[in-house]
Amino acid sequence: GPTLLLWAVIAYIIGSIPFGLILARVMGLGNLRDIGSGNIGATNVLRTGSKKAAALTLLLDGGKGAVVVLLARAYADADASQIAAFAVMIGHCFPVWLKFRGGKGVATFLGVLYGLAWPIGIAACLSWLVTALVFRFSSLAALVAAASTMVWAVVLGEPQIFMLCAFLAALIFWRHAGNIRRLVDGTEDKIGQKT
Ligand code: G3P
Repeated sequence: GPTLLLWAVIAYIIGSIPFGLILARVMGLGNLRDIGSGNIGATNVLRTGSKKAAALTLLLDGGKGAVVVLLARAYADADASQIAAFAVMIGHCFPVWLKFRGGKGVATFLGVLYGLAWPIGIAACLSWLVTALVFRFSSLAALVAAASTMVWAVVLGEPQIFMLCAFLAALIFWRHAGNIRRLVDGTEDKIGQKT
């Protein structure tokens, strides 16, 4: 109905705020498009050398996902929260203000998961952390964490979000096409490595 459409629009707009790009500019770190992968996310912000800016980007990109989903849950229902989750991800990955050239959706997905079912959010964060600590690639950690959410949804008893997790994991894989190529070629940067 019209309420779901309204949540989709609100979520898209909030999702499309490119916090990494804004913070890098405001904090005088340069244009992210000319740094590292050119991506607007926390991983690329870290390549400027500012851990503070990277942490803030992670927090704000994740926070916008969590806040939107929690608002939809509080003021509407579970359907609205899933629509909001999807739309905030689309907003982040394809912001109209950046000619649809947005981010890869990892931080926002983690935030969305906290809002939908917090144990899945924690499990996905731990999956990211363990993979990152072992292999030192942010992209590989993101791919493992994204795929793992389908397993966590079943194992931790949240089957109602399985399909959404499958869809958003597929979106994240698609957005990491370049990273996957570099991982296979052996040319992907390790976390914090400056290029
Ligand atoms: O969050 C995106 C991360 O998984 C990869 O970022 O800048 O290395 O393409 P980047």
